[in-house]
Amino acid sequence: MRYLVLSDIHSNIEAFDACIHRAKHAGFESVLCCGDVVGYGPNPIEAIDILRGLKALTIRGNHDRVAAGLDEPTQFNPHARRAVFWTRSMLPDSHKDYLGNLPVGPLEITADAQLVHGAITDEDDYIFTEADANENFRLTDKHITFFGHSHFPVVFSVDAAGNSVMATTYEFDEFTAVKCEAGRKLFINPGSVGQPRDGDPRASFAIWDQDRSRMEFYRVEYDIEVTQEKMRQAQLPQYLIDRLAVGR
Ligand SMILES: [Fe+2]
Repeated sequence: MRYLVLSDIHSNIEAFDACIHRAKHAGFESVLCCGDVVGYGPNPIEAIDILRGLKALTIRGNHDRVAAGLDEPTQFNPHARRAVFWTRSMLPDSHKDYLGNLPVGPLEITADAQLVHGAITDEDDYIFTEADANENFRLTDKHITFFGHSHFPVVFSVDAAGNSVMATTYEFDEFTAVKCEAGRKLFINPGSVGQPRDGDPRASFAIWDQDRSRMEFYRVEYDIEVTQEKMRQAQLPQYLIDRLAVGR
């Protein structure tokens, strides 16, 4: 089975479409999403509709939880807060219900793999460092845990003896493959579709080739200016508009 692994789409359908187009070329049978379908970007309804059309197995992100009205954005910075209130105002009840009913991670995908949004400890926690990853490795026996939230494509791995390796600084060209070695636990972030923050503005996604035990990481260009113009029209914060162009 080849799984398309997505995270942090954030209502950016230009980026989302570009990822799906590239992924179809690479080939996949099933779709996984680590949450944050909405928030920040200008097309929350369409992003949800596309994801549902793909029959993606999706968990809830912190932005999805707040946009659905299940929680208030007390932990959000002012830009994120403005955007999530705007998102909430745009979503019909049917779409809020969809977000509100998404399962909370960890969600088991196979005997070997699971999805979380931020971390196993909590959907709002971040895995940025090796220390963060180590804290979470102790909480799972799964071979692979897919996560998002940080908007950084990364693989953390630990061997049976507990020695961890942070393989973070991939020189992402358009494509990189990483072997999922047996006997290791892996924490894998496919990067953000709709708001990358690793300094590369191209949309990010991954494909998990289960039979070949490998991850394929992809970066794709999309028409950032179209998304930015829609955000201007929607009067979303300038800070959020500007950051798309620099991937920060
Ligand atoms: Fe996010």
